[in-house]
Amino acid sequence: MQESVTLRPVPAPLDEKRVIGHLEHVVDAIKRNIPKIGERNPKIGTEKNQWEYCGQFDWVSSFWTGELWLCYQMTADQQFKNSAKLRKSYFADMLLDPFWLDHDLGFQYSLSCVADYKLTGDEESKMMAIRAADHLLHRFRKIGGYIVAWNDTHPLGPEITQGKSIIDSLQNTALLFWASEVTGSPVYAEAAKRHSETLAKYIVRDDFSTFHSFNFDPVTQQPIKGETFQGYADDSCWARGQSWAVHGFAQTYLYTGDETFLTLAKKLAQHAVEQITDDGVPVWDYRLPKTEIQYKDSSAGAITAAGLLLIAQCIDDEEEAKPFRDWGLYLLQGLMDTCDLTNDEQAQGLLAHGASFVKVGLCDNMLPYGDYYYLEALMRANGYQKFFW
Ligand code: GLY
Repeated sequence: MQESVTLRPVPAPLDEKRVIGHLEHVVDAIKRNIPKIGERNPKIGTEKNQWEYCGQFDWVSSFWTGELWLCYQMTADQQFKNSAKLRKSYFADMLLDPFWLDHDLGFQYSLSCVADYKLTGDEESKMMAIRAADHLLHRFRKIGGYIVAWNDTHPLGPEITQGKSIIDSLQNTALLFWASEVTGSPVYAEAAKRHSETLAKYIVRDDFSTFHSFNFDPVTQQPIKGETFQGYADDSCWARGQSWAVHGFAQTYLYTGDETFLTLAKKLAQHAVEQITDDGVPVWDYRLPKTEIQYKDSSAGAITAAGLLLIAQCIDDEEEAKPFRDWGLYLLQGLMDTCDLTNDEQAQGLLAHGASFVKVGLCDNMLPYGDYYYLEALMRANGYQKFFW
């Protein structure tokens, strides 16, 4: 019997039909952008809503590829497939230099090679994704029960990073769960589940807000403390971090069937929904003092929307599921009303007003992950349930 969690009602009228119908415009905009983007992988938007592009090893390198594969899944249009396939060599090259690989292997390979394998049966892509999962598995610390997020080259330095777990990696575990399914070896899924349990214990606070990261002693692997890197403060609640947890724990439920994770995802979603302003677009940190500039983060809105709709799809009781679905649609409506760029023929992405890393001045840009989750959420709103996670 699933534990029930209640959300407050959405604060303004919701036009469900308009939100659902928007998927078509988004797919058209993605198709329009294929020749502009070519073989490159979008990294971050410029002031004029053009893309700057990834170098090798960028954590965001797969999101455009993921959009292309999702569009191919929906339409069977070869242009999407051909453009996605063009990127295979980028992901092959990345595996040649493991020094730079980190926990983001999950984002990078689920949306590229796993997607390719699932949709076209490409065996080479399958092997690349398994190799990526092996690298990710090597980051799992068995005593502490967590995946190390970053490398010694990170600005925080090895003393910190060697024992640091971060909330974002709740999305990356999907690659491990998938690897267990295709190889038949349980080790990947065991590590992914342990990591989720550890983060549920330490990175989630009692009020269901979250730390961005949690540090363990790199040698003894004993827990030390939560802190932030991209949020406002150690005791704040970085909106995108909360969204990674909402979506990530719901996904962990899908893979494990363990209802503890679904309940946790619902409570994290409930906390997020309590903080979201009536326009439906999250401020970049839910505990940002009013004296600070209230930058919005459309990417947090898109990821939370996808997470809420995923949770709604997991809930057995229709009455309980409805507010989760309504809030997912409401967040999408907010993005459509204030951030959507699909009517701008010159824009190379889908959503404005993403906050990548406010403290270093990246506070109001298009972001490829915002775009990817916008598409995923719109698909979930339309009833799609098959993704590459
Ligand atoms: N995974 C890094 C970020 O969310 O900005």
